[in-house]
Amino acid sequence: MSGIRQVFGDERLHTAFTLYPYAFNETPSAGSAQELRDSLPFHEGNHTLIVEEGGRTVATAAAIPAHQNLRGTVMPMAAVAWVATHPAARRQGHSRRLMRQLHSDMLDKGHWLAALYPFHPSFYERFGYIGLPLNRTASFPPEGLASLLGVTLPGEVVWQNIHDGFDVYRAFHRRLLSERHGFTLTPDYRAVRARDSADRWIATATVDGEVIGLLTYRVDGYGGCLRADELLYTNALGRALLLQFLAQHAYQVSQVVITVAPDEFPETWATSLTVRTATESAFPTSPPLMGRLLSIDALRGARCGPGRVEIELVEDELLAGRYLLDGTGGTIAVSTTRGGAETATLTAAGLSGLAYGVLDPIDVVARGLGEISAGAARELRALLPPRTPHAFGKG
Ligand SMILES: CC(C)(COP(=O)(O)OP(=O)(O)OC[C@H]1O[C@@H](n2cnc3c(N)ncnc32)[C@H](O)[C@@H]1OP(=O)(O)O)[C@@H](O)C(=O)NCCC(=O)NCCS
Repeated sequence: MSGIRQVFGDERLHTAFTLYPYAFNETPSAGSAQELRDSLPFHEGNHTLIVEEGGRTVATAAAIPAHQNLRGTVMPMAAVAWVATHPAARRQGHSRRLMRQLHSDMLDKGHWLAALYPFHPSFYERFGYIGLPLNRTASFPPEGLASLLGVTLPGEVVWQNIHDGFDVYRAFHRRLLSERHGFTLTPDYRAVRARDSADRWIATATVDGEVIGLLTYRVDGYGGCLRADELLYTNALGRALLLQFLAQHAYQVSQVVITVAPDEFPETWATSLTVRTATESAFPTSPPLMGRLLSIDALRGARCGPGRVEIELVEDELLAGRYLLDGTGGTIAVSTTRGGAETATLTAAGLSGLAYGVLDPIDVVARGLGEISAGAARELRALLPPRTPHAFGKG
């Protein structure tokens, strides 16, 4: 059987990277060798694995050491990416073996969560992943927000090139990581791509010197479109200031297109705003993020409701075992104590769905991801109430 090994630094160029252009880009392309070389620094801290046969790389997978907030606790998360197999070596189990190795390596390095954008979700569901809600795209003419301009709010919005505002941008992302369930922060060596490409404006809403809202965006031409990334804010004032800022672009651009969280309602931003809010889940072009727990420790100490349940985790080599989850103290205590509690059997994907707050126990059963009695469902619902993860922060 062919071996798996980790590659580092420039070695990636003639190993893992040989598979990237064909798998992920428009090919053939004259510039791709140079583009790959230029991208090396952005892979520096990645955990990159390859499968070799006869000295040639036939498959690869990598993980970016990121962080994610799960129910209020920030922890290391492995962002799995660049899973690719040479066309002649596909369907021989290479990706399957690479994923197993990647999980175990990243867990050894202290990553309790993993996330990825799937090409084929059922493959990853068998690996313990569950789909998270997709962000929405809101499109509207900026004059639809004109009514917001008549009011003077405390605070101000300033804008600058992201190259100059990069430190503010990173600091705000770090703050949201600590506050928002599901929020993801990539490591510095990847985040600097935003600064180096310098192809964005950054608008920051501040009050008393504190940043409370942030928006990165581009204007694609006079009368064209203002294309904004994620609408990020810590409170309603931050959002209102940024919406006022967008309103100021009336008749400069004809459309604003902006990414918003799954539980944002743009139709409530202003009276009679004409807005289209949409999302599309499609594979492999527009996949929702999937996430999983690599360790039960991810739940230890999480804020929770007053439930108490014994779970048996099955069909997963990392999580397999029996655990008592006790939330009667306000945070989850995990132990291997037996007896005296309602019991449920869960797959890793079932547990992950409950932990991220995107599945009700009934959904877990309906999707074949576990067996849960009515009593255990009641306890799980109290312990892990529904949450909407804000899976912002692409790598
Ligand atoms: C997707 C890809 C990485 C799979 O690699 P692979 O080494 O062939 O995968 P494996 O042989 O380990 O297959 C694992 C399982 O994935 C699923 N799978 C793999 N390729 C599939 C395909 N084309 N269609 C449907 N399912 C597929 C199957 O469930 C398969 O198990 P099975 O063969 O027992 O049915 C490879 O086809 C590839 O490089 N594609 C282009 C890039 C890409 O899409 N990467 C994934 C990004 S998340």
